[in-house]
Amino acid sequence: MKLSVPIRVTAAAALLAAGLVAVPAAAAAPPTAAAAPDIPVANVQAHLAELNSIAEANGGNRAHGSAGYQASVDYLKAKLDEAGFTTTVQEFTSGGQTGYNLIADWPGADPDQVLMAGAHLDSVGSGAGINDNGSGSAAVLETALAVSREQLAPAKSLRFAWWGAEELGMVGSRHYVDQLPADEQAKISGYLNFDMVGSPNAGYFVYDDDPALEKVFTDYFAGIDVPTEADTEADGRSDHASFLSAGIPVGGLFTGAGSTKSAEQAEKWGGTAGDSFDPCYHSACDDTANIDETALDRNSDALAHSIWELSG
Ligand code: TRP
Ligand code: CA
Ligand code: ZN
Repeated sequence: MKLSVPIRVTAAAALLAAGLVAVPAAAAAPPTAAAAPDIPVANVQAHLAELNSIAEANGGNRAHGSAGYQASVDYLKAKLDEAGFTTTVQEFTSGGQTGYNLIADWPGADPDQVLMAGAHLDSVGSGAGINDNGSGSAAVLETALAVSREQLAPAKSLRFAWWGAEELGMVGSRHYVDQLPADEQAKISGYLNFDMVGSPNAGYFVYDDDPALEKVFTDYFAGIDVPTEADTEADGRSDHASFLSAGIPVGGLFTGAGSTKSAEQAEKWGGTAGDSFDPCYHSACDDTANIDETALDRNSDALAHSIWELSG
């Protein structure tokens, strides 16, 4: 058979041109790193309104062991199932009551490299827990839903997690890491944690445990001209702690809890010097009014950026 191709074309190219062999994946154009979408903050706020309603309908909180916690898991799981995630509810026991972690998987090209992002979904008993930690939970949820909307085809596999019983001592996340076999732990290339990302008197803190993960966030904030500080309050105080102990690289964002904003911090970030970053921390007033929407928006967009950037 005669191939009507120019004489200097290689044999392989001739076969390709003649349609006789499939184009190997490696011959495709180099992947262009698609930019993360802008996360609509109105969607994140809608999740917070729903979590607040759930608390109101269930005695005012979403604490471990309560009907409000169960309803929170049900709300997120339904959204994730509808979006095409593979969801798992993992049970554990703490204080004599059953707790639940919610895990949502989105497979990538490589099942042996997993990028994780998570947030605790439980509140304390004294309030609805909208900044602590509806904010992180809703930002992770809306990022996961954006992955589905964009039908992201990442190189690494993505796993989103919502932890139970953080407020009882980071119980759910520790259970997850402890029960994970060593070979599964080794697949996790990084864990990103989001615990309080809409504080009403916000600071912009980036976990400084891993330089490469930290840089993804600090570069993002530099790009929108928002100064950040390395998080010094974070160490060991949220769900990344168990991942860190297991030797997994961790990163994350935090807008501040009960400690006081300094004059220098108010100068660069706005807000009120001498007040707590979150004056309603662990209080009944941690409701939908206890959110700085600008901080919630920036941190949600930074979260999405980190997922797109780090999943390849
Ligand atoms: N984990 C704490 C809580 O949920 C909040 C908190 C305090 C925190 N300091 C922190 C979270 C530093 C992240 C980093 O109540
Ligand atoms: Ca946004
Ligand atoms: Zn918290």
